[in-house]
Amino acid sequence: MSNLIYNSWYVAGWADEFDRTPRQRMLLGKPVVLYRREDGTLVALEDRCIHRMAPLSMGQVEGDDIRCLYHGFRFAPDGQCNDIPGQDMIPRRACVRSYPVYEKSSWAWVWMGDKEPTDTALIADAKALDDPEWILRRGELDYEANYQLINDNLLDLTHLTYVHSNSFGADEAWSVNRPVVETLPNGVRNSRWIVNTPPVPPLGKAAGLDRVDIWTSYDFIIPGVFLLYTAIYQKGTAQDCDFSKPGEDREVLFNNFTSQAVVPTGESTTRYYFSWGPGSAFGDDAIADLMIDTARQAFFEDKVMIEAQQRIIACEPERPPMPSNADKAITLFQRMMKSLDKTDALQQA
Ligand code: FES
Ligand SMILES: [Fe+2]
Repeated sequence: MSNLIYNSWYVAGWADEFDRTPRQRMLLGKPVVLYRREDGTLVALEDRCIHRMAPLSMGQVEGDDIRCLYHGFRFAPDGQCNDIPGQDMIPRRACVRSYPVYEKSSWAWVWMGDKEPTDTALIADAKALDDPEWILRRGELDYEANYQLINDNLLDLTHLTYVHSNSFGADEAWSVNRPVVETLPNGVRNSRWIVNTPPVPPLGKAAGLDRVDIWTSYDFIIPGVFLLYTAIYQKGTAQDCDFSKPGEDREVLFNNFTSQAVVPTGESTTRYYFSWGPGSAFGDDAIADLMIDTARQAFFEDKVMIEAQQRIIACEPERPPMPSNADKAITLFQRMMKSLDKTDALQQA
């Protein structure tokens, strides 16, 4: 049974990937072509010519329009066909679907649903690549797996101990202690301290320390955007803060931010976009490079596990999982996504 949810904004790519050359992106099993108008604004159309189904992404942009380079039908940004070579009468129904498109946080977002798009202010507040507070690097990864498995992976970071002991050097604390899980209008928040742990890799002012306390808090936003803030403090800070959110007065030794988007490209394929990097007050280009290399290694570890998991699930898709008490955020988020499927929860947020 499909768990794809159409009435939501999806990342179609990094905004700077798109220019006057039409480019195809798959979103929820549908081909979409994106290009920029003469004024630089984005157009997103169904990538399927109405005539004989050639992809418009193999066509050419003319002014603000795009022409199919099979038999020459031309389409305006609203999807209406406005030229059929050798034919004067163009029926009104001669149009391809036009999708709402919006740029925010260095990503191009496309609304895939039949309903009116929700307020773009509700799109996740990821960090733009040029945000001066952070030194960010970026990447993408394609998965042969249903998007929900990747959402589930990000909603339960107890896997760090087992999957990422090499890359992130995560110790047992990640699997043993439980985050505080809160519900947000458009997602869930997971926050916790990891206490008395090595600063791995040794970074910034934390470099000389054997043991530190790490505050880590992330929002997971509908339909699959992960926004994680991590800060390193002197050992003992967690206790001094009563294990709650550290105040501004506490000295941060190092911090970093990552924005990640999980995008279903089909029923069992997913594209994962990510940026990561240190706070500009604590890091430099070399540290940013080191962090993104480490992240790539870690995400590849996730990919190996999740694709293997997908192959096992495919043998008996209806057989249910057995949740643990670490699955609270997964359960909450899946419930939100199910309600979105029917009623579009974001519109009510
Ligand atoms: S398929 Fe596009 S014009 Fe024929
Ligand atoms: Fe992971």
